[in-house]
Amino acid sequence: MNNVFKDFVRDRQARVETTLEHWLPSSKTLPHRLHEAMRYASLNGGKYIRPLLVYATGHALGVTSEQLDGPAASVEFIHAYSLVHDDLPSMDNDDLRRGKPSCHKAFDEATALLAGDALQSLPFYILSHDPKMQADATRRLRMVETLALACGSRGMAGGQAIDLASVGKELNLAELENMHIHKTGALIRASVKLGALSQNNCDEEIINTLDHFAKCVGLAFQIKDDILDVEGDTETLGKPQGSDIAQNKPTYPALLGIRESGKMANELLTDALETISGLDENADPLRQTAELMVNRTY
Ligand code: IPE
Ligand code: IPE
Ligand code: MG
Ligand code: MG
Ligand code: MG
Repeated sequence: MNNVFKDFVRDRQARVETTLEHWLPSSKTLPHRLHEAMRYASLNGGKYIRPLLVYATGHALGVTSEQLDGPAASVEFIHAYSLVHDDLPSMDNDDLRRGKPSCHKAFDEATALLAGDALQSLPFYILSHDPKMQADATRRLRMVETLALACGSRGMAGGQAIDLASVGKELNLAELENMHIHKTGALIRASVKLGALSQNNCDEEIINTLDHFAKCVGLAFQIKDDILDVEGDTETLGKPQGSDIAQNKPTYPALLGIRESGKMANELLTDALETISGLDENADPLRQTAELMVNRTY
């Protein structure tokens, strides 16, 4: 990571954290326990990859950070909700998240369910309401539409349903790709699209180009997540290493082995970078975010 990108990451992570904090009700607001759980699940040291994608896409298109804070916080809230539910005993049954007890362990299952529900609806309020966003009603509606589709049954929730239905089964490569594209790729695509839609009159051709980029990095990101489940360690990951193996989940390493999976993630990264090769140097943070998504160690 060069210093310019390091500063970009640090600055945008701080921005999104301030924005998450801004929109989250304080734990003194009733109902206290629910608000405390929402804060616990979203202000607890994630990498903020999806917000980074929003900021870096917007940056590539000349959009100011002020315009991007709301969309960036929106995708992170959806992501935080998805992790709270993903860790529940009825789903992956993981007790550790970001180095701390998962939300249902720190609180209780019912509170975790409700915190997830509330974290899911908050972004739709932000996108409709955020006075800092200069987007007009039509563009806001398109953002709401994008995010709603991405997290619903034809996006992330659908992917999670495939994941649960596939435990102990052997999926072929196309089926596995389909699962990953939905459970993880959909929100990553939405992150890039929200960044692009933040530009006034964003060209549809550019939106499509960026969407192909996002599709590649979204899949590569989950392949890397699968690899880290095998190769990482619990302390560095902040979540239980080996959880996929223990639960007999279909993953890329299980189907293709570690080396082939790594190769595939790298090929997807190359494809992604090639797709946006026509963009100027303002797209460098976006290129480097894509590299970070594949080369990360946690
Ligand atoms: C983990 O996502 C879950 C996946 C969809 C792969 P991240 O690796 O982005 O998790 P945090 O937000 O940094 O904890
Ligand atoms: C998560 O996939 C996908 C989500 C939509 C949350 P995983 O179940 O592999 O994510 P981790 O490994 O628990 O973070
Ligand atoms: Mg899961
Ligand atoms: Mg999981
Ligand atoms: Mg995983």
